[in-house]
Amino acid sequence: MAHEISERELQLPPAMIEKLIKYASERKDVISLGPGEPDFPAPRPLVDYTEKIAGRCSHYSPPGGRRDLKEAIIKKLKKENRIRCSEENIVVTAGSQEALLLATAATHDATEQMLVPEPGFLAYIPTIEMMDAVPVSLPLRESEGFQVNPDRLKKLITKKTQALMINTPSNPTGAVMPKKLLEEIADIAVERDIYIFSDEAYERIIYGGKHVSPGSLNGMHDYVISFFTFSKTYAMCGYRLGYCAAPVDVADAVKKMHVYTSICAPTISQMLGVKALSLPRRHVDSMVKEYKRRRDYLVKRLNEMGLRTRMPQGAFYAFSNIQKYSKDSWRFAQRLLREQKVAVIPGTEFGPSGEGYIRCSFATKMPLIEKACDRMEKFLRKN
Ligand SMILES: Cc1ncc(COP(=O)(O)O)c(C=O)c1O
Repeated sequence: MAHEISERELQLPPAMIEKLIKYASERKDVISLGPGEPDFPAPRPLVDYTEKIAGRCSHYSPPGGRRDLKEAIIKKLKKENRIRCSEENIVVTAGSQEALLLATAATHDATEQMLVPEPGFLAYIPTIEMMDAVPVSLPLRESEGFQVNPDRLKKLITKKTQALMINTPSNPTGAVMPKKLLEEIADIAVERDIYIFSDEAYERIIYGGKHVSPGSLNGMHDYVISFFTFSKTYAMCGYRLGYCAAPVDVADAVKKMHVYTSICAPTISQMLGVKALSLPRRHVDSMVKEYKRRRDYLVKRLNEMGLRTRMPQGAFYAFSNIQKYSKDSWRFAQRLLREQKVAVIPGTEFGPSGEGYIRCSFATKMPLIEKACDRMEKFLRKN
């Protein structure tokens, strides 16, 4: 039988990154700087707790999240993010990716637009397209530190614009947005009456500077939908646990659709989430300390071999300019993989403005990073 596939699905770009990561993971001789997830296991107390609660979590959880988890999230948001909210503002989801999708659906009718700074997280554009809304590219420039330029942002806002995505710390550039810039953007959002989608997946993976949550800024309560995840902070990607904090009507709409999509985030993960939020900071701090050591080493090596790389201030990615060697980041990544068995992600996976760049993840063990750098150096010398 010829199966009819919807136009919506056919329009989606194939996830090339999946192919690359699959190839790298199947070949023992390949070193992958591709991963978008922590290489650490979840902290020991969480692993132990998983065994303890295994027999107690076979039922659905209440729509939108267990009460104990929501209470713990509210405390965390107040203390760490300076966001004040109550239970009605929170929706617990299967990873923050689900919340991003449902919040897009909740706030965008077909043909309405969301501004997406790019290079940016590779799921943003397909997520918006899946909801029949329209992603509008806001190109970020290396010369501007991959920061949103408020003047260029203003020019892109139209009557159809419903929201602006921001992601600090950023995947893939590692840029962290300063408070002053966030305030400027917040003023624009209020003036033009658009939502800010604030993706804070890497809120705790930050080196030296300070993470500022846009939802904590004066008067932004009604304008910001904030997205958080346990995936990166607690190395819990596989547990699929995230949440959003939104104005009550938006949260209600997200919750309604969440019931029809995943019903609830896995109960075992929600119970672990409560435990994770009670852990002392040192569990996360020790991972961040190790990421920083790897970051310093990798960025130095990349610059020394002629791949200009800004020092990432957060997340665990180095975003390198390859233009001295190639104008085609996909071809560059493929040849590097074929000739030297090092997997990196071509910048175009993160949007058209990623052309001329590659992303190297340092969520990879130090000896492998060292070896990968030696191989990359060899590759560049030959080419
Ligand atoms: C910027 C960003 N946002 C959101 C996500 C989705 O994370 P999860 O669905 O695991 O919470 C990711 C995952 O890589 C990411 O990098």
